[in-house]
Amino acid sequence: MPTNRTFTMIKPDAVKDGHSGSIIKMIEAAGFRVVALKKTLLTPERAGEFYAVHSERPFYNDLCKYMSSGPIVPMILEKENAVADFRTLIGATNPANAAEGTIRKLFAISMEANAIHGSDSDENAQIEGSFFFAHVDQY
Ligand code: TYD
Repeated sequence: MPTNRTFTMIKPDAVKDGHSGSIIKMIEAAGFRVVALKKTLLTPERAGEFYAVHSERPFYNDLCKYMSSGPIVPMILEKENAVADFRTLIGATNPANAAEGTIRKLFAISMEANAIHGSDSDENAQIEGSFFFAHVDQY
């Protein structure tokens, strides 16, 4: 995946509460092009694989349970400086610390149910995008 791309997924609570459309609208208004998008469900095992880097953390089991509790909307996005600009758009992990106007400030319920994921590096954007989508280099 080229370095002007990032990976995101709208998390179960935001999907369940009907915020997917509003969130995608914010993403596009911020200048990101949606390269790939689908609605899907993770098993707890697949969620565990996605978050394997956190497997030793105390919140890991609850996170896997939460991330497999309902449909999610994974996407690959394109924009110059995509990874950093998208992290700014979503805001801090803990919504209590998220800046005004960010997606997490507007839609997150808690630290765990924080509405949306954003890759933290070009390398992870590539790995995470490939976890959900094949052949995106051709899109
Ligand atoms: P992390 O990669 O630290 O945050 P971010 O999603 O902002 O890159 O953590 C991954 C997810 O794990 C985070 O979005 C929500 C959850 N999480 C918790 O439930 N409790 C915690 O204490 C932390 C740090 C994260």
